[in-house]
Amino acid sequence: MYLSYPLVFGFVALSSASSIPHAGRDVSHNGLDIQPFTIDLTDRVPHMLDLVKKTQLPATEEPAFPGDQAGISLATLKSLRHDWANSFSWEKEQAILNGYNHFTTTIENLTVHFLHHKSSQPNAIPLILNHGWPGSFLEFLPVIDQLTKKAKTSTGRPVAFDVVVPSLPGYAFSSAPPKNWTAAGTARIFHTLMTQGLGYERYATSSTDLGSVVSYSLYETYNTSVRAAHFTMIPFYPLTAEQVAAQNITLSPAEQAQLDRWMEMVATGNAYYYVQTTKPNTIGLALQDNPVGQLAWIGEKFTAWSDPRAGTGPSVLTHHEMLRGVSLYYLTRSFLSSIYMYAQNPDGFRLDYARRAATDAPMLFSGFAYNPTFWPRQFVERVGNLVLYKSHEFGGHFPGLDNPPALVSDIREIGNVWVQ
Ligand SMILES: *[C@@H]1O[C@H](CO)[C@@H](O)[C@H](O)[C@H]1NC(C)=O
Ligand SMILES: *[C@@H]1O[C@H](CO)[C@@H](O)[C@H](O)[C@H]1NC(C)=O
Ligand SMILES: *[C@@H]1O[C@H](CO)[C@@H](O)[C@H](O)[C@H]1NC(C)=O
Ligand SMILES: *[C@@H]1O[C@H](CO)[C@@H](O)[C@H](O)[C@H]1NC(C)=O
Repeated sequence: MYLSYPLVFGFVALSSASSIPHAGRDVSHNGLDIQPFTIDLTDRVPHMLDLVKKTQLPATEEPAFPGDQAGISLATLKSLRHDWANSFSWEKEQAILNGYNHFTTTIENLTVHFLHHKSSQPNAIPLILNHGWPGSFLEFLPVIDQLTKKAKTSTGRPVAFDVVVPSLPGYAFSSAPPKNWTAAGTARIFHTLMTQGLGYERYATSSTDLGSVVSYSLYETYNTSVRAAHFTMIPFYPLTAEQVAAQNITLSPAEQAQLDRWMEMVATGNAYYYVQTTKPNTIGLALQDNPVGQLAWIGEKFTAWSDPRAGTGPSVLTHHEMLRGVSLYYLTRSFLSSIYMYAQNPDGFRLDYARRAATDAPMLFSGFAYNPTFWPRQFVERVGNLVLYKSHEFGGHFPGLDNPPALVSDIREIGNVWVQ
């Protein structure tokens, strides 16, 4: 089912951004030169739209592989392309996005782009949100305003956050990663941003997808600064059904369904991972100047990894949101550099479920039913000081879009374990 609410969504995003108290461009400068940043990608829009319109797709689907079992369906791609060409305005999106507080700074010779939204609350917890692929800072826009607001945890403790959302190296407006760059390097520069750049001595983190590799590195490496870590994925290769059975773990029917989705992903959905890890230039160069190609490659993931109810409340993962995400990749010329993270971190997902470094900082985990990866509680608790393990029946791989209220309320639980 196709749903499009460009104007409504745009209006909501604009008004929520401008209503954030103390959202002024007034960050401290503790040794890093932090500059306000405004998005202007309009130059490339005519070329993008020209390609979107001129790309010739087959008139009808091939009878051998109809539907969406062999990848994105022709009907979905055509519907998305139609809207991209006819009812999507990057200029409008850009105006909305510029309602948020963007900054750039330089750390270890890399430009780091980030959003910074401060709470009006005096004891707000500094929080860094790390996105993954094929996501971007856009994934967290629906939760920023809520997280900065004064709220209560499930046990009634007051909680609010100062929210920082960086773009990973190679994504959006951050520099491409240099040679031999790893997720540990990204963690190091993000730690510099939080501490030296923004003046936060201690902070919390949350993440999605490959952002979990960065967040876990922060959690392990900076154990006096990172005093709470919330995950929707952990950087450990999920267990097979046989491995779970061998551990005598009893799963609920919902957990069994998640494990089945993971086994399905292993069998039919992981080719992109091996391509991006081993031959990033082939797919990267093939799609770098091919917006409809990026839409097929990325759109398949947005569709396959999210809740089938995506686009209906509480999900805001509409086709319009996917077009916004793909447009950001295309217009910032970052498709190629975004997938280098796979090639540079071939062991990003570890096989041994053990901590390599000491931290007693609390860890929180949120599972979402349609995230095609699954970790039973018994395994999550091996890799951190697990204080909360939650499962949501609505949502998938992009919880900031797929189920923003659940992500907000789980992140707020950090307030129960945070020591001021
Ligand atoms: C930054 O770049 C300069 C000039 O290329 C180089 O001399 C310096 O070592 C680099 N610094 C870091 C931290 O990579
Ligand atoms: C970069 O990685 C390659 C391949 O792992 C290695 O051979 C090389 O020594 C590394 N270079 C640096 C500067 O670390
Ligand atoms: C699982 O249960 C079997 C049968 O009771 C036992 O032999 C085995 O050691 C158990 N495995 C683990 C990992 O607890
Ligand atoms: C932090 O890490 C250091 C070095 O591994 C370790 O000695 C220390 O015990 C850790 N602190 C906590 C609170 O886990």
